[in-house]
Amino acid sequence: MKMTWEELEPACLQCRKCGLCETRTNVVFGVGNRNADVMFIGEGPGENEDLQGEPFVGRGGQLLDKMLAAVDLDRHTNIFIANIVKCRPPKNRDPEAKEQDACLPWLRNQVALVRPKIIVCLGRVAAMKLIKPDMKITKEHGEFYERNGVLMMATLHPAALLRNPNNKPAAFEDFLKLRKKLDELHLAPAPGDLPF
Ligand code: URA
Repeated sequence: MKMTWEELEPACLQCRKCGLCETRTNVVFGVGNRNADVMFIGEGPGENEDLQGEPFVGRGGQLLDKMLAAVDLDRHTNIFIANIVKCRPPKNRDPEAKEQDACLPWLRNQVALVRPKIIVCLGRVAAMKLIKPDMKITKEHGEFYERNGVLMMATLHPAALLRNPNNKPAAFEDFLKLRKKLDELHLAPAPGDLPF
């Protein structure tokens, strides 16, 4: 059953549905505008996110913020950011299928409340879970997929871009495609955009 934000957040912060609760410092619920047109969904918290309770606050997060800013998006104003799993997997390993499945109802409730028009998956784990299990992110990033009236796209994970900066221009193209789509649909206007 769908919960309101006021019900959802405190319930999620106390979650013990999988073993990741044993090692977490904080549940990383998500950040941003709860009425955003666009949601970004990552894989799971890393060390900094676990300590601060906010998604994408480490080096990858700084890169993400820069790429967002380049297309007039900002984590506090016109997007919402969350993860497939809300607690840090030990040693930053990939979240296991059963951890993803245990956590997914929280994300589904968030999506039901935000009602984004576009969802951007950051990296392979989110893309395979949310868009299609056989997603080939190196080939299929930047493509839009329609799912029940919502457009979904995957882009390369910021941490992967830090490991391989050669891929930064390709990821930036994805962000430009996103901005173009938003403009076509008159969504997430840039701060200075006036209605007439
Ligand atoms: N990587 C992710 O996928 N999510 C975060 O919140 C931080 C790093």
